Amino acid sequence: MRWIMMLTYVVAILITLSLMSVYILGVLTESLHKNESVNLFAKANIIADTVAGAIDVFDVFDDNADRQIEQIISGTVIRALAVNPSCTVLYDSNTEASLEGKVLMRDVINTAMQGEQAQTLSKSDDGNTIMSVAVPVMRDEKIKGVVYLVETIDDIDKTISYVKMNMIVFSVLISILVGMLSMGMSIMVTSRLDEFIKAAKEISNGNYKTRVNVSGDSELQELSDAMNSMCQALENVDETHKKFISDVSHELKTPLASIKLICDSIVDTAEPDIEMIKEFLADLSNEVDRLTRIVERLLTLTKIGNEEEQPTLTPVDFVVMLNAIMNRLRPNAEAKHILLCGDFDSADITPVLIDYDKLWEAVYNITDNAIKYTPENGTVKMELSSDAVEMSVSVSDNGPGIPESERECIFDRFYRLDDSRTRETGGTGLGLAIAKEAVLLHGGRIEVQESEMGGCKFIISIPKRTAEV
Ligand SMILES: Nc1ncnc2c1ncn2[C@@H]1O[C@H](COP(=O)(O)OP(=O)(O)O)[C@@H](O)[C@H]1O
Ligand SMILES: [Mg+2]
Repeated sequence: MRWIMMLTYVVAILITLSLMSVYILGVLTESLHKNESVNLFAKANIIADTVAGAIDVFDVFDDNADRQIEQIISGTVIRALAVNPSCTVLYDSNTEASLEGKVLMRDVINTAMQGEQAQTLSKSDDGNTIMSVAVPVMRDEKIKGVVYLVETIDDIDKTISYVKMNMIVFSVLISILVGMLSMGMSIMVTSRLDEFIKAAKEISNGNYKTRVNVSGDSELQELSDAMNSMCQALENVDETHKKFISDVSHELKTPLASIKLICDSIVDTAEPDIEMIKEFLADLSNEVDRLTRIVERLLTLTKIGNEEEQPTLTPVDFVVMLNAIMNRLRPNAEAKHILLCGDFDSADITPVLIDYDKLWEAVYNITDNAIKYTPENGTVKMELSSDAVEMSVSVSDNGPGIPESERECIFDRFYRLDDSRTRETGGTGLGLAIAKEAVLLHGGRIEVQESEMGGCKFIISIPKRTAEV
């Protein structure tokens, strides 16, 4: 990762600098060449003017013209030649290898003979760049010959290679600098990523207490925040899970311990009579019933709590459902001489869309509790009310009530106010948790208040969804 980041930067910089160098060198070469050719043409034109008079009788080039040409090219490396229309050299400034009297054939000379200036670049045998220009010598609007100038422009070559060298050095230095900077930067970034990788490994090992501590850069900070909240969520799920398992084990342990005790008592009795065995077996049966009840309720709870579980909505007449629950519980109420009454008159009886079984269970559980925890001769009252958006079922009693501090907790699994008493009544502490899950599944809420009758009042409210006909 680090190397890839660094190499990417270095390669990008190298490509940019190379393209820039090629362009700059191209422009520089062109402009230097242009300058030189303008200079050379200027000299060639002056010479052409100078020799225009002397070139009349072309084979006798006068000394005066010679001197003038030498003056013009003195101090330069220009070689000047003058040729007549038949391309015979009349004058050559290079006296050592003079071409005077010889015929000189060059493309540029031919072009100049047609009356046009011409220029060419070529390479000498020893690798130097040579610039040649040819201009026609005119008199009386007639071409009398051609002035041909040749110059080695290795000065320009040297300048260009000097610039090229500097650019290469510059590019290398810049690349090294960028390489070092990007390496530093990638080390900074990847070392922070290391922390994330370490944390992810810890999490996958089940250590949900892990937290990432990254400061500075906003994206990485965001990532670390997201990761930390994920850890928090995992930790919560993990804790709920563990608590649930420990609660369940604890709840199952009590009836199992009773069963063990009963069995041991029978085994330890030397000569048990049949009556005693029957009594023990009846106790045993009760404990098994209790175990069965806990397991059944747990199953109901996990089924409702399953997030994928969707309510099976059917149109239900609430009043009919409440009457059915009342009828089912009436024997329990009568056994304790409790007055169980319902007030559904003011309610709207339009069928609403609900999951019948689940809501039945929720209302049944709170009514069952009210009858169970209200002393003999008490009163339990069910009410139904509704408005445009909500349906509410309430169950009030004149029992012992629930202290305000406990009202939040009673919906927790296995939570019971008075453990020994509720155990006697066969409670599992799961009824309200089941009721709450069922209500939440409908997008509603369940709450408990003090009732006007002195006990407590449970209210289930669910959004009103009427069946579209
Ligand atoms: N109407 C009520 N009056 C007094 N206490 C109640 C009432 N309803 C529920 N409770 C208390 O809330 C606890 C939780 O109820 P629930 O979840 O149904 O469990 P249980 O199986 O014990 O009935 C009960 O054990 C009881 O202490
Ligand atoms: Mg209950």
